[in-house]
Amino acid sequence: MDKFVIRGGRRLSGEVVVSGSKNASLPVLCSSILTDKECTFTNVPDLEDIKTMCKVLESLGVEVERPRPKTVLVRANGLNVFEASYDHVKKMRASILVLGPLLARYGRAKVSLPGGCAIGVRPIDMHLKALARMGAEIELSHGYVVARASRLKGARIVFDNTTVGGTENILMAAVLAEGTTVIEGAAQEPEVVDLAEALVAMGAKIDGIGERTLVVEGVDELSGTNHRVIPDRIEAGTFMVAAGMTRGRITIQGARPDHVTAVIDKLMEMGIDIRSDNDGDLVVDGDRDLEPASVETVPYPGFPTDMQAQVMALMCLARGVSSVTETIFENRFMHVPELMRMGAKLEEKGRTVIVRGIERFQGASVMATDLRASASLVLAGLNASGQTEVRRIYHLDRGYEALEKKLNALGADISRERGGL
Ligand code: EPU
Repeated sequence: MDKFVIRGGRRLSGEVVVSGSKNASLPVLCSSILTDKECTFTNVPDLEDIKTMCKVLESLGVEVERPRPKTVLVRANGLNVFEASYDHVKKMRASILVLGPLLARYGRAKVSLPGGCAIGVRPIDMHLKALARMGAEIELSHGYVVARASRLKGARIVFDNTTVGGTENILMAAVLAEGTTVIEGAAQEPEVVDLAEALVAMGAKIDGIGERTLVVEGVDELSGTNHRVIPDRIEAGTFMVAAGMTRGRITIQGARPDHVTAVIDKLMEMGIDIRSDNDGDLVVDGDRDLEPASVETVPYPGFPTDMQAQVMALMCLARGVSSVTETIFENRFMHVPELMRMGAKLEEKGRTVIVRGIERFQGASVMATDLRASASLVLAGLNASGQTEVRRIYHLDRGYEALEKKLNALGADISRERGGL
């Protein structure tokens, strides 16, 4: 397993370009199951999770080509398998996003239940209840969801809690269902909006995109599309924090500032200066003393859970006491003990972590546990005195495109060592 060796203390400067969004690409790739016409998706990042999703689609009989970097061509006209296996789903939970489109287009799907993961139990009960309301017969058998429907029927779906994947699955199911589906309590995340826009470009009829209630008028068939995936807002936010951790000054190109408003507001409150320049790039000046703050993770447009670990690392360097409350996932503090090994003063109290400011992190050997936790350890390593080893960085490779190359181009000193624990 590869590891990063980071020699900390270098101030970042220069320009960095944000890649396409992982969490937007994954559902958009699955939407190709809804048509037998060719779909072309551009700005798709070169990441392990994307490769896994392409394999899942191929395992169903979908033709997948990657003619150029960042472009994926998909044609689902030879689909002959309706099952996402345990091997795929255990590797990447987002594989369950084939459930809605398979059921909508072929009336059958068998998808492994995802089980727990490093950040919590993460059930899919809301996806299943909603599909059942649309007329699907659902059975749980030998660790699999087995679903059938002659044709899904439009229904009123009410999500009591926000679910990004659930909204995406039901949206993909509803576009080919008979009649009207109303999704109340829909997730408003930019990735859901991106999927909805791709579906509309394929001929779907969706009203209320970006709002809490989506109204979907089912159509009989969809056409192909050429869709450019939105930039990765979490990668953009991670670079902003990197500037703050190193007192750096960087320009982030290609981000959508309107997708990172809550992150920008919080980082500005802590003292980092972030402005949009005339080209729409984000100019981040982290050469300031950091003030403490409190953060609570909430669904979009609030502060994202996927930035929680990174902002906690930043809070460690603020002058005073900060707090982080995680409300989306029950177990997303795996970075806490690792950051403490690097000198952080953290106290976990249920869903909240109290963060007491320190001067600087100390380099240490630490273990990455999930994607965003790993990012927080790299950020701490950029600030730390001495050398930090972040092990098991395959988590990072799942979700950050060429992270060490991008940070090194900004002046960081990170090397990737192959193999080992
Ligand atoms: N939940 C249920 N039942 C359900 C669905 C969700 O109880 O049927 C719970 C989950 O256990 C969790 C909460 O609801 O506690 C939110 O889950 P959600 O369905 O919104 O999350 P997701 O679709 O599984 C996506 C992202 C995550 C991101 C969350 C929240 C993808 C592929 N994943 O997951 O991204 O944290 O939304 O914004 O889009 C990451 O990129 O590191 C990552 C984990």
